[in-house]
Amino acid sequence: RPVIERTRDALRARVASWRAAGQTVGVVPTMGALHDGHLALVARAKAECDRVIVTLFVNPKQFNNPSDLEKYPRTEDSDAVKLAPLDVDVLYAPGVDQMYPAGFATTVSVAGLTDVLCGAHRPGHFDGVATIVTKLFTQTGADRAYFGEKDYQQLQVVRRMATDLDLPIAVIGCETVREADGLAMSSRNLRLSPEARTTAPALHREMRAMVQGLHAGRAISDLRAEAEARLLAEGFERVEYFDLRGAENLDLRDRLTGPARVFVAAWLGDVRLIDNIPA
Ligand code: PAJ
Repeated sequence: RPVIERTRDALRARVASWRAAGQTVGVVPTMGALHDGHLALVARAKAECDRVIVTLFVNPKQFNNPSDLEKYPRTEDSDAVKLAPLDVDVLYAPGVDQMYPAGFATTVSVAGLTDVLCGAHRPGHFDGVATIVTKLFTQTGADRAYFGEKDYQQLQVVRRMATDLDLPIAVIGCETVREADGLAMSSRNLRLSPEARTTAPALHREMRAMVQGLHAGRAISDLRAEAEARLLAEGFERVEYFDLRGAENLDLRDRLTGPARVFVAAWLGDVRLIDNIPA
C-alpha cells in the first residue's frame, strides 16, 4: 500500500528528500473512486518518473451542484488497495481544511476556454478545477502531471493555466480508457441503473457515427439533429451539447478542416455523462 500523507508540509518534506537524491516526480490528480482510467494514468507516470504521487481530494469548489458533491463516492481504502500493485510512492489525501484553510480567498480563472462546453453548463466548475490543480502543482512541486483526455476541456484548461502562470511542470494528456462496449470509464458510471448502463454506450456509438459522417464531408449541423434524436430514442433524457471543436482552442467548427474533436454531454437518468473522441 502507498504511504498516505495528509498535510502539505509532510508531503513537501518527502518530495525534498527525493529531490536531494536527484529523482524526478510525477503527479496524478484524482478525486478517488479509482478505476482503470485513473490507473492507466498512474502506470504512465510510473513508467516516466522516478517517484509518483497520486492525489485524492474531492474538491468542493468544483461541484456546482451540492447533491453531486454529496453523492460523490468516497472510497479511500479500496483506492489505496488498487494503487498497491502500481508501486505508487505517496497517496496525498488532504482534508478540506488543508486545502482551503479559514480566510482562503484566491481563485484561478482561465478565460475563453472555459466559456464553452461544460463551462457553459457548470458555472464555477473550471475555476474550482484550475484553483485546486494550481495548488496541487505548487504543493507537490512535480515535474510532470498526468490528465485524461476523457475530460479534454479540463486538460486544455490545465495546460493554459500552467503555461500562463509559468508553472514548471509538463502537462501530459493520456487516452481515454473505455469499457469493452465503448463506454468511457467514469466514477459516475457507478450511479447508472442496470438498464441505463446498457443504454450508455450509445453515446460512444453516436460520436463514432458523427466522425464517420464528418469524414464523408457532411457538416455537424446536418448530422446533429438525427444523432440527438437517436440518443433520446435509446433512453437519454437530454443532450446538453454535441459539438465539433478545434482540438487546441475548442473553437466551434461545422466541418472537418484541421485537428478537431467531437464532444458530447447528455443526461441518462440523473447522471450526466460526458465524452469526446478525435474527429
Ligand atoms: P477525476 O474525475 O477523479 O479524474 C482524475 C483524472 O483521471 C483526470 O485527469 C481524468 O481525465 C482522468 N480520467 C477519468 N476517467 C478516465 C478514463 N476513462 N480514461 C482516462 N483518464 C480518465 O478530473 C478530476 O478528477 C478532477 O477535476 C481533478 C483534476 C482531480 C481536480 O480536482
